[in-house]
Amino acid sequence: MARVCEPMCVSSQRPGLFITLEGPDGSGKSTQAALLADRLRAGRLDVVLTREPGGTALGEQVRRVLLDVDAADRDTASDALLFSAARHQHVIEVIRPALERGGVVVCDRFSDSTLAYQGYGGGVALDDLRALARVATGGLTPQRTVLLDLPVSAGLARRMGGAAADLTRFEVNEAMGADFHERVRAGYLELAGGDPARWRVVDAGQAPDQVAESVWRAVADLFG
Ligand code: TYD
Repeated sequence: MARVCEPMCVSSQRPGLFITLEGPDGSGKSTQAALLADRLRAGRLDVVLTREPGGTALGEQVRRVLLDVDAADRDTASDALLFSAARHQHVIEVIRPALERGGVVVCDRFSDSTLAYQGYGGGVALDDLRALARVATGGLTPQRTVLLDLPVSAGLARRMGGAAADLTRFEVNEAMGADFHERVRAGYLELAGGDPARWRVVDAGQAPDQVAESVWRAVADLFG
């Protein structure tokens, strides 16, 4: 079982493990998060697969508000606050309880998405976003974050090739064009480079089964 022990779970007999997947739109995170969860469940682990924005009733409501392509323009800091409100509820209702009972939480996006999108992409000061993250998460940090990295053009092409109804405000809004997504990608790579103990970077351009294998290798050391 997981050997990591964060302050929030020291009282737990079987400390939980918190793994997040991050990456630009179209990098295949949702598919890979599900494959990772299946593989861990096959190893008889108690696994909670969840995502942001979402994961709770409030989170799903906020998700609709945040991703609605017809939404009126909002200031980027307002987006950051909304994502953070949903995150706070997600941590309290879903993530902490699972970790405290010794489970493995696999989360599709977490605080690093706010740093990448609203910070590097949208220009909100990173220090402000880090302070916001402390409030939203109570200091909870993933033990491992896997970045599914992909050139922006490849990610957007994948997304545009899918169903139009699946596109979010972050994909159709012209103000969030290729430059925005380039900043997001560069931001992710900077975050990963700054904390190599937590982050692993996986080439999301490989075939899905190869990506799944790389994701597995990126977390396997946590399971002894
Ligand atoms: P979603 O349809 O879940 O896309 P993906 O499968 O790529 O995660 O839409 C989530 C969108 O919200 C995505 O464009 C990234 C964005 N986002 C932020 O801008 N900030 C955040 O904190 C989070 C969690 C997501």
